[in-house]
Amino acid sequence: MTAHTSPSAGYVTDVAYLPGYYPFMAPARMRYVATLQGIRPPAVSEGFDFLELGCGFGSTLLTLAAANPQGRFTGVDFMPVHTEQIEREVAATDLRNVRVLCADFAKMPADLPQFDFIALHGVFSWVSPELRQCVLEIIRRHLKPDGIVEVTYNCMPGWSSLLPVRTLLRHFAGRAEGDSIARVRQALAIVAEMRKADIPIFHDQPRAAQLVDRLMQADLHYVAHEYLNEHWTVFHVADVLAMFGGIGLGHAGRLPFHHNHWELCAKPQFAAQFQGADIATLETLKDHHANAMFRWDLFSRRPREAWTPWQRADAAADLFFRTASPQASLPHTVTYGGVSAGIAGPPHDRMLEVMGNSSWSLPMLLDEPQLAAFTSEALVEAVDAGVAMGLFRVDGGAVIDPIPPVETIAAAPLTVPLEFNRRAITREDIVNEQVGLASLRTGAGHEIGDLHAVILDELIAGGHEGLEERIAHRLVRTEKHLREHTTGRPITDPAERAKAVGIICDGFFTAVLPELVRQGIVTLGAASPAH
Ligand SMILES: C[S@@+](CC[C@H](N)C(=O)[O-])C[C@H]1O[C@@H](n2cnc3c(N)ncnc32)[C@H](O)[C@@H]1O
Repeated sequence: MTAHTSPSAGYVTDVAYLPGYYPFMAPARMRYVATLQGIRPPAVSEGFDFLELGCGFGSTLLTLAAANPQGRFTGVDFMPVHTEQIEREVAATDLRNVRVLCADFAKMPADLPQFDFIALHGVFSWVSPELRQCVLEIIRRHLKPDGIVEVTYNCMPGWSSLLPVRTLLRHFAGRAEGDSIARVRQALAIVAEMRKADIPIFHDQPRAAQLVDRLMQADLHYVAHEYLNEHWTVFHVADVLAMFGGIGLGHAGRLPFHHNHWELCAKPQFAAQFQGADIATLETLKDHHANAMFRWDLFSRRPREAWTPWQRADAAADLFFRTASPQASLPHTVTYGGVSAGIAGPPHDRMLEVMGNSSWSLPMLLDEPQLAAFTSEALVEAVDAGVAMGLFRVDGGAVIDPIPPVETIAAAPLTVPLEFNRRAITREDIVNEQVGLASLRTGAGHEIGDLHAVILDELIAGGHEGLEERIAHRLVRTEKHLREHTTGRPITDPAERAKAVGIICDGFFTAVLPELVRQGIVTLGAASPAH
């Protein structure tokens, strides 16, 4: 008789994953992508339900919960080390809209409600085929009719030249001693030796060699969870489309934004390949032109509709667009893989003048008399091109505009109103990581570097007096090293460190802090007694 194994067996559970905020999971981004494809997204202003399957330490779940008090957030993960940490954070930050379940996807609690958004990042490629079926069944039963699913996975063809790295890591880890971190460390050391010797597998496939170099710098908790799972696999997009099709869901677009535009994935001379192609062909071609290795896909039950610009504007009336940087100017150029593209001339030049640094919804732009010279089609197209190429940001609300000049902000007493954000910047266990801060205005997280978080924390705690010296001391105390930008060399010499801290503080006051004020994450003025 063979022993019955659980569909969840084979996943690495002896070591924790690592925290990290993922901006693509913000409802506003998912909703924007859906509207881009003619799919009416779930309404969010009166409240919504968000489920994250495999939420790890919950960095994204908690940040989004703090940014959307009207939403109800549920996180599911079967590793108690993850869910217990989330419970502690929930208690400490008094977040009332988070439910965390320590549960296995194969045995979910019976009282799970229906959700507007179901997100799973870092799950689909890393679990057994049986468990994937359990996940699909959870989605089938618990996605509201208008709901959106976001799923990430490793894809072809990008992984074709990288597969040897996974094979070798798993092979040597299987023969090593200790827990998954110890085993992956030993395996990585052997693979790095092979890469250093430039043996044919790495010589012939430079991307595999680059991957090994990157893994040598990566957190081993990440490497263990990415590479050691028994059922790790990689998909062709058409297979994933078929799996979701099997539960009645169609493709609703993808992230990052530019992947929704074939022109930003393939060179213009291949336009004919994309004309009239069905979705599976279109996505397969885009992945091959771009040599994609990872996908963020959205799925929905709703059909794609051919909208007029005003129908599109109405479907997205609570999404706001603004220039990604106050210094935005034209021409704006980008290069994605081998594809270069740009934005110049009308209507963008006039739009930038009219929009300034304010947030604009599509109805506001289409109604704006100063833009009346342009057709509504041209304006909507210009917004989408701007978002795809990073000229514009899309938010779930309007940011503050105007804000005081940089010098006024830098000199003012500052407050961080949300307890969640105060805890995020006070943590000392973050090393070279992005910190997600919640914005009630955008309904999303905003990432800042952990050194910028340290500056903000010191500024709030002790003001400007001796700021740079205090930061330098704190870096020494917490063994947080500044590193040279190009080489990664730790900066330990005190004079060199003081200079580097000065440069980082300048960047914080000129670029980072104004954006935090714009998003309402930092407010001007001393904290009220309640804080
Ligand atoms: C790679 S991590 C991703 C965590 C998080 N989504 C993130 O991006 O930071 C995958 C997560 O899925 C969880 N997981 C894997 N199999 C599971 C199962 N059968 N039931 C519940 N959670 C599971 C793991 O514990 C882990 O935290």
